[in-house]
Amino acid sequence: MNQMIPLVDLRAQYEEVKDEMLGLWNEVLDSMYLYLGKNVQEFEKEFASYNNVKYCIGVGSGTEALLFALKVVGVGEEDEVIAPSHTFFATIEAVIHAGAYPVMLDIDTRSYTLSVDDTREYIEENCTKEKEGLRDGKTGKILKAIIPVHIYGYPADMDGFNEIARKYGLFIIEDAAQAHGAKYKNKRTGTLGDLAAFSFYFSKNLGAFGEAGGVTTNSDEYAQVVKRLREHGQNGKYCHEFVGFNSRLDELQAVVLRCKLKLLDEWNERRRKIAHFYNEALKDLPVVIPEEAKDVFHVYHLYVIRSEKRDELFEHLKRNGIGCGMHYPVPIHLQQAMKGNGYKRGDLPKTEKISGEILSLPMYPHLTKEKAGKVVETIRNFYK
Ligand SMILES: Cc1ncc(COP(=O)(O)O)c(C=O)c1O
Repeated sequence: MNQMIPLVDLRAQYEEVKDEMLGLWNEVLDSMYLYLGKNVQEFEKEFASYNNVKYCIGVGSGTEALLFALKVVGVGEEDEVIAPSHTFFATIEAVIHAGAYPVMLDIDTRSYTLSVDDTREYIEENCTKEKEGLRDGKTGKILKAIIPVHIYGYPADMDGFNEIARKYGLFIIEDAAQAHGAKYKNKRTGTLGDLAAFSFYFSKNLGAFGEAGGVTTNSDEYAQVVKRLREHGQNGKYCHEFVGFNSRLDELQAVVLRCKLKLLDEWNERRRKIAHFYNEALKDLPVVIPEEAKDVFHVYHLYVIRSEKRDELFEHLKRNGIGCGMHYPVPIHLQQAMKGNGYKRGDLPKTEKISGEILSLPMYPHLTKEKAGKVVETIRNFYK
């Protein structure tokens, strides 16, 4: 019986951090200091320093990190936010939870990230400057922010978005949930806008063993507000300045993140090696392999190819014991939950086309060359 190769396998990661992590967990449990203690504070400092940003604030999840970032810049019911439809649902969900309308736009089909050109065009065609801000004639809302998503670990074109933001007075909130350690022009993702949201969901490049997230920013003021938002709007014990949330990073998850952060660069390098191996081995086949622009450091949270025979290839890989995925097969603007938001098939042709072609291959730092070779061989057999 052939050994199954999963899409993601994190056991070897666990083995690498196990001794240190269990030792620190014992200390935490002996102290019974379980939340927002020493480990959370140290992790926040360490992750901020890793990214070369002033603050990291640990919160309960990446979804909440996005919501808090939106709330901090004042996004609310009168507003709208531009984001890609080609993302995980949480990006758009956070906009809706903030009370705003999500304007979902198309992607650049080389990077799969939100298209700067489509964003500029949308604003030029629909928005006019008013006293309250940039009014969208199509929706009647005020355009407040853009969320570029560094999808799959590939940094969005941040110079382009920052230029648009400067021109129109918009906020930039990076969704860096899939891009820990990625770089754009030598700067880490998570430091390239007003605020950024990270997810530390267990399968991410830097993942806890439960739910966790973080907001990064260089602003003293924004950092203070996020700290209050995560703890019921408290400014001191039982002193509630505004209505907030319960979304604290706990000590046990912070320990996991501290131990794994030390290995993040090494693990990202391993991902990159595997990606380059796949690239070489698949380049002569009728599939589209990922591209990497010169000034971009891709961290391959996911390794995604495109095939016109995606569904047959997916079934073939599955039959042969290769775990693969589709990230994401139904664009957000076409999800049932978005009914009533005014979108229909045909609105975002690039996103809709690639959603029928994308296929994620096994990718995790400890995937062996032998197993990656087996993945390649199985794909080559399909095209024989
Ligand atoms: C692009 C993107 N945004 C946001 C999130 C939400 O993060 P979380 O699952 O930690 O809430 C995720 C993670 O799943 C994601 O991939």
